Amino acid sequence: MAVSDPVAWLTLQPQGERVPVHAGQSLLEAALAAGFDLPRSCRNGTCRACRCRMTAGRVRYRVEWPGLSPDEREAGEVLPCVALPDGDVVLSQPLARRAST
Ligand code: FES
Repeated sequence: MAVSDPVAWLTLQPQGERVPVHAGQSLLEAALAAGFDLPRSCRNGTCRACRCRMTAGRVRYRVEWPGLSPDEREAGEVLPCVALPDGDVVLSQPLARRAST
């Protein structure tokens, strides 16, 4: 596998856009690198500005205590700024937009 090959693909819904996620990238970082503007602020898992729902896939977290309750995690809520994908992931984030150039 070449260094630049993605380790997973992130699908943004309802836009239906697919974004490559490279090794070490959070879902937010991958989306930003691909030219998407997503809600965000702290980027360290505390402010919850990036919170959205994961409708498919699994993630692990870069920080020990991401700002989600067990109930929120159980309901599929994720914090993309600190979420690392374990395989392909689908996020429901109606506010995702292609960044203007
Ligand atoms: S940007 Fe603050 S929790 Fe994700």
